[in-house]
Amino acid sequence: MTLVIARTREELAAARSSFGTIALVPTMGALHEGHRSLIRRARGLAGTVAVSIFVNPLQFGPGEDLDRYPRTFPEDLAICADEGVGLLFAPTVETMYPGSVETAVTVSSGEMGTIVEGATRPGHFDGVLTVVLKLFNLVRPEIAVFGEKDAQQLAMIRRMVADLNVPVWIDGSPTVREKDGLALSSRNRYLSPPERVTALSLSLALRRGAAAAPDGPAKVIKAARAVLDEAADTDPPLELDYVALVDPTTFEEVGEEYVGPAVLAVAGRVGSTHLIDNLPLYLAPEPFPETS
Ligand code: PAJ
Repeated sequence: MTLVIARTREELAAARSSFGTIALVPTMGALHEGHRSLIRRARGLAGTVAVSIFVNPLQFGPGEDLDRYPRTFPEDLAICADEGVGLLFAPTVETMYPGSVETAVTVSSGEMGTIVEGATRPGHFDGVLTVVLKLFNLVRPEIAVFGEKDAQQLAMIRRMVADLNVPVWIDGSPTVREKDGLALSSRNRYLSPPERVTALSLSLALRRGAAAAPDGPAKVIKAARAVLDEAADTDPPLELDYVALVDPTTFEEVGEEYVGPAVLAVAGRVGSTHLIDNLPLYLAPEPFPETS
């Protein structure tokens, strides 16, 4: 399949009419194996895979890495061609936000957008939901694929689609990791070798936490914290933003009596790099001990 590149709304509209069902993979570029896995998943879901590449200024807070966010368009284009993508939408900021990024009307992520990751990054989820809804309205996909790597983002998009009756089916795709556990991220390329070692504490904390799931929520957090506290004393240190055990749908913290699926979520900074990770787990009461 030849890859059609649309840079403007007009080019996109012209291209859209020549495709049937579309599965959209929204990205900010600097594509890696995680993005590739989303594209491959999308390929099985619709006749055409569309990828969008847009570094969305609205979801970056003051002092965050908008200006230095990696932009690798030629490599991204080659990856899209290699993965059989049919349509690549790569708009400019002016195309997405004509006049000003301070658009008059935005999507509010509500209270859920202010907790966990939203507490560390005020306004972030409003920016994400606004751009995702705009991309849906421009590309008009039947399906959109998002990574579980950004579990709260995925939950918020599902919530937006339900609450605003957006006619797009949302599909979640598992996190792709390096062999040593580090979750792939476009931001990993910022990490120096010693910073990368410190960053491994995030995924290790998740695995230790998940191993404690049979002992209940408090033990899960305790096990994860032990790893993160240790990483806070290394050089370079991990500066922890949060570690939380939450309901996968609402991202509210679960209580000690909770039984069911949960997400152990963690975020922190190593040097100036903001990293997040999470692991789904299941909290079940201890089985009765054998009595015979
Ligand atoms: P970006 O960070 O480029 O991620 C694009 C998609 O790839 C997201 O759905 C994200 O969850 C997924 N992804 C990233 N790393 C992954 C990994 N290691 N394994 C599996 N999936 C992974 O997320 C965004 O862009 C933006 O917020 C966006 C949704 C495009 C809105 O601007």
